[in-house]
Amino acid sequence: MGRVFVAGSINMDVVATADRHPRVGETVAGRQVLYFPGGKGANQAVAASRLGARTTLIGRLGRDSLGAELKAFLGDQGIDLGYVVETAEAHTGTAIITVAEADNTIVVVPGANGLVGADDVKVVPLLKGDVAVSQFEIPLPTIAAFFHRARAAGAVTVLNPAPAQKMPGELLALVDILVLNETELGFLAGVELSESDAADRIIDVARKLQAREDQTICVTLGKRGVLALAGHEEISVAGRVVKALDTTGAGDCFVGALAAQLADGAPLREALTFANAAASISVQRMGAGPSMPTGAEVAAIL
Ligand code: RIB
Ligand code: NA
Repeated sequence: MGRVFVAGSINMDVVATADRHPRVGETVAGRQVLYFPGGKGANQAVAASRLGARTTLIGRLGRDSLGAELKAFLGDQGIDLGYVVETAEAHTGTAIITVAEADNTIVVVPGANGLVGADDVKVVPLLKGDVAVSQFEIPLPTIAAFFHRARAAGAVTVLNPAPAQKMPGELLALVDILVLNETELGFLAGVELSESDAADRIIDVARKLQAREDQTICVTLGKRGVLALAGHEEISVAGRVVKALDTTGAGDCFVGALAAQLADGAPLREALTFANAAASISVQRMGAGPSMPTGAEVAAIL
């Protein structure tokens, strides 16, 4: 069984809940302020670890109380934190989140995440059969260095290009499995895509983006499930109808679960079905990191 290595962001999420989102210039009264461990990298690592994968997180925290709290939480999840560096040069990453009507808006201030460098990822002991995962909350050159190393070792690379930003073609070419939602796919392909677009159209756009013939592109569609283009093969996984409470981190749950399944040797279709089920559990709970399910919880609904 391979291991999961996640190079990515670690944030404290400061969440305000309200009945509705404020408009620009408007103030609304909130209900609660909650502090949840978050950050796309950390969330994906929590999901992978809770779902049974041996998981290592590579990232940076500030030398402050939020950093100490996050480290304690992540350690409790069984994640190897040997490659998480504490730096005096920046504060721990922080996300200011508003949750209303189960939807969120997020302002993320990277702090220490912005200092995760190529040297941080070059020392990671990746092996054949391992899965290397990253997202766009650490510098892109760092991700490229990480994926170069992973591919040289025979590991599989998984990129979740969120939050979306333009990426160099050389980085996309280093990706074995790209996991993104329809908005991110549209942005990267330079076309307009919306929730209501047909599966055929989404697959066509994925094909246009595919950087290598053997590349897999997984498009998460929320309650509509998942579409994937694996080389030439098309895979579709049906959505699950649940009552969402907080969708923050649902995409991260999907990515972490997928990585855990692939490290365990699961075939892609099975891994996607499992990840889709895992994400449907996470949206029914508040918070990002703490909402990740265990393997037993996913097995119970499959
Ligand atoms: O994907 C959700 C995450 O994005 C949150 O936990 C927040 O920290 C931001 O990084
Ligand atoms: Na959640």
